Amino acid sequence: MILIAPSILSANFARLGEDIKIVENAGADWLHIDVMDGNFVPNITIGPQVVADIRQETKLLLDVHLMIERPQLMIPAFAEAGADIITVHLEACKHLNRVVNQIKDLGLKAGVALNPATTVSLLEDIVEEIDLLLLMTVNPGFGGQQFIPSSIKKIYRAQQMIKQISRPIYLEVDGGINAEIAEDTVKAGADVLVAGSYIFKSASPEAAVQSLRVINTGLDR
Ligand code: DX5
Ligand code: ZN
Repeated sequence: MILIAPSILSANFARLGEDIKIVENAGADWLHIDVMDGNFVPNITIGPQVVADIRQETKLLLDVHLMIERPQLMIPAFAEAGADIITVHLEACKHLNRVVNQIKDLGLKAGVALNPATTVSLLEDIVEEIDLLLLMTVNPGFGGQQFIPSSIKKIYRAQQMIKQISRPIYLEVDGGINAEIAEDTVKAGADVLVAGSYIFKSASPEAAVQSLRVINTGLDR
């Protein structure tokens, strides 16, 4: 089962509630929320108050992607705001095991994200502890960038690592995803598809969600 996670980074923030309803009604599974601090990445987005307001507007699972330094300081606030999954970057954590456990101790699912140049094997000693592995398929910071082609091999390597573990771990891809590329990522092992500009900048966000949804059909996995 492939899950679709529209990224609100490319939504219209002046009518965020309406944009969220559109993707919810179109059959999205999760809502992907990109949190940026202007430090870990060269852009600033939203904080816990916006997540709390979104929580009041939708029943979709809130998939919070923290692109921030020292995420341990902000995790309690995002948990309180209603996040269901919190994902931190390996590159932002000196004590990744501690941060993963901090998230799980709050009763949430814990994800770890890797930048494009960070190798999957760095997760060998933490993979058993996590609920989700997020592979950045562009350099984080902005929507609307081109998918990095070498990501396909990396997705496959991540999937090989995950399948050694006896419980399910989501393999999420994020950046430059459209219907065509999504199919290649799913063949390589991805099961959660984040898409921002492909959905929200399209003439029909509903049709864009549907075009990702049909990838489920005819899958032999
Ligand atoms: C980028 C974010 C992505 C972004 C993807 O740093 O993590 O979630 O919204 O946007 P698209 O799908 O436009 O590449
Ligand atoms: Zn993201």
